[in-house]
Amino acid sequence: MKFTFDDALISFSEEALRKNASLAEAAFQTAVQKSGRGNDFLGWVDLPVEISEEELGAVEQCAAHLAQCSDVVVVIGIGGSYLGARAVIEALQHSFRPMLPQQKPTILYAGNSMSEDYLHDLLDVLDQKDYSLVVISKSGTTTEPALAFRILKQHCEQKYGLDDARKRIVAVTDRARGALKTLATEEGYPTFVIPDDVGGRYSVLTPVGLLPIAAAGFSVRKLVEGAVAMRQRLLDAPHFDDNPAIQYALIRYMLYNQGLKLEMMTSFEPKFFYFIEWFKQLFGESEGKDHKGIFPAGAIFSTDLHSLGQYIQDGTRQLFETVLTVENAHHSVGIPADEKNTDGLNYLQHRSINEINHIAQQGTCLAHIDGGVPNMKVIIPEINEFHLGELIYFFEMSCAVSGYLLDVNPFDQPGVEAYKRNMFKLLGKPGF
Ligand code: PA5
Repeated sequence: MKFTFDDALISFSEEALRKNASLAEAAFQTAVQKSGRGNDFLGWVDLPVEISEEELGAVEQCAAHLAQCSDVVVVIGIGGSYLGARAVIEALQHSFRPMLPQQKPTILYAGNSMSEDYLHDLLDVLDQKDYSLVVISKSGTTTEPALAFRILKQHCEQKYGLDDARKRIVAVTDRARGALKTLATEEGYPTFVIPDDVGGRYSVLTPVGLLPIAAAGFSVRKLVEGAVAMRQRLLDAPHFDDNPAIQYALIRYMLYNQGLKLEMMTSFEPKFFYFIEWFKQLFGESEGKDHKGIFPAGAIFSTDLHSLGQYIQDGTRQLFETVLTVENAHHSVGIPADEKNTDGLNYLQHRSINEINHIAQQGTCLAHIDGGVPNMKVIIPEINEFHLGELIYFFEMSCAVSGYLLDVNPFDQPGVEAYKRNMFKLLGKPGF
């Protein structure tokens, strides 16, 4: 992974950046030494090197069992118990995987909304397919996944009978607490533990992410290897010059202090749609508190150049951009010759689609710089498990450093409770 920030220097000089380097270096040490706010949730810092062979083996074995008995694995969870797995799976899988029946199982998702029609449609599919359920909740009490699980559990039991259903349901939850843990123990479901010191949005490298990713057929070992490599790279370089997480966090912080309160994470690769969703959750829930924080937004280009592009170029000047770039495509699709050239595209014939996409990216970055939008780039050579592992660790560390720079606790989410309190009161939940 490479990180470049030359195009952010339209907003301040490199000298100004270096003057503030010590702030971000100190924030990095606070995270690494686990000495700051929320330090009981810093288990993710060493997680990649602490995952045991036994745990990886157990995840792979369980995933193989689910894959063997299922056309569809339904992953039930929300927020940090959902987005990391989906980010990795959607980045790695064939763009039209559900249309390719020979590639099984397909991963579907539930418990991330309370749309009755969505659940109805999912049940329609599950009526016709063999399936299994992975229910994920650290607290074990979150309403959305709990509600979806109650419905899907009953469907599964009616379809397969109690005994077979119990072999098709896996729980990922707290070691000891919560309704899901109690239920899993009562029913005898295979269970994986979310470590106490790892919060939801930092949990993709625990069974929360690893089990669904393995069930989808991807190498969790390579994912973890990528995270191990990034961790080592960052720990070996505690200073601004060589540490991309310190650089990224500091530049964001300086842009924020200049009034740029919104970060657009963009990519010219549509497979990154859910990775950007994961990024939005990671940074939004970690930074947005005490009336502070950069608003994390996202866009897929060139799709959104034909919608949000106008605003980015020319709307209120309140944003900067981070571009998630993939250098190489895995496949090539030639541009066919056409003697008539009615569409006028013959001038592109000697180029690959990937090359054209990259030139579109260059053109866009130049236009956005002209329009006063500073930008940074996070670049990987290709999409694979290793590089996604690197990215996950890079963004997690950058997020922690950013949170400490802002002087917030990056590991709590008190604001999420407000809607729940109102909803429970309105629903008449006992005790509210
Ligand atoms: O990052 C977080 O902590 C949250 O997004 C949680 O993951 C989310 O609220 C789901 O919580 P739980 O896993 O307890 O169901």
